[in-house]
Amino acid sequence: MSQTILVTGASSGIGQATARLLAERGFKVFGTARKPESAQSQGVTMVALDVRSDESVRSCVAQVVAKAGRLDVLVNNAGYSLTSAAEETSVEEAKAQLETNFFGAVRMVNAVLPGMRAAGAGKVINISSLAGNTAIPYSAFYSASKFALEGYSESLWYEVRPFGISVSLVEPGFVNTPIVEASPAAARQLPAYDASRKSMLAAFGHALKAGIPPEQVARRVLQIIAQPNPGLRYRVGAQATWLPRLRNVVPWNVYAAGVRKTFAV
Ligand SMILES: NC(=O)c1ccc[n+]([C@@H]2O[C@H](COP(=O)([O-])OP(=O)(O)OC[C@H]3O[C@@H](n4cnc5c(N)ncnc54)[C@H](OP(=O)(O)O)[C@@H]3O)[C@@H](O)[C@H]2O)c1
Repeated sequence: MSQTILVTGASSGIGQATARLLAERGFKVFGTARKPESAQSQGVTMVALDVRSDESVRSCVAQVVAKAGRLDVLVNNAGYSLTSAAEETSVEEAKAQLETNFFGAVRMVNAVLPGMRAAGAGKVINISSLAGNTAIPYSAFYSASKFALEGYSESLWYEVRPFGISVSLVEPGFVNTPIVEASPAAARQLPAYDASRKSMLAAFGHALKAGIPPEQVARRVLQIIAQPNPGLRYRVGAQATWLPRLRNVVPWNVYAAGVRKTFAV
């Protein structure tokens, strides 16, 4: 019987590419969007989901299990990237970033674990980021959300392993998706950061455009699903592979100079 897979945030970018690839490969795929009626599906059954809402998460997972009878793999992908100076970001805006990128994933995991534990099998795949290893300027709370996802997933790995459930983190570098266009900035802009924010945003936009295609991340997710015992961390793309290694071996000032140059800050 083909496995049932739920991909959150499948209306765009990495989630859309992943859901499509998995559907092409014969899996039974459910994808989510906050407005599923306006999201293109191509072999993917779209379900409404807002990961900020307990009720929406409960209803989404219940619909998948009702339609498919089971859920084998959860791909936690939904997210956005708040790109503003840390000082410009209100605590409410910072909480909102973590509410989607971190607690959204936590809600989904909590909703699927009872079924996976009962089945004695399952895979949780959390889409993290290079920014979960090495922080990006003007992305303090995005980086914080991904660092949080990294620590949470590593703890969870130990806890659910005895039930036959694997937890994997996918860590892409820059991926060419519309994530910046889809993401809000902080409402407050402080003139002191204007010049640096402007050059950083230009560099960030350029890095995304030059990033790997979302299909490359999708292929890595497919590889994880195909493995009987997947590992905890999977880096995708040259940046995500080399930068964390470089950071461990070169002095901080040298590494930081490279990051400052890349982001023009
Ligand atoms: N692009 C990159 O360079 C990059 C690099 C590393 C990691 N990532 C990670 O990859 C994931 C996908 O990013 P992307 O680049 O593919 O961005 P994207 O194209 O903007 O797609 C984001 C997806 O998340 C969904 N989403 C946003 N807020 C949501 C919410 N509250 N509830 C449910 N779904 C929500 C969106 O769906 P709707 O708006 O339709 O609901 C959309 O399908 C994110 O976790 C991101 O942090 C991206």
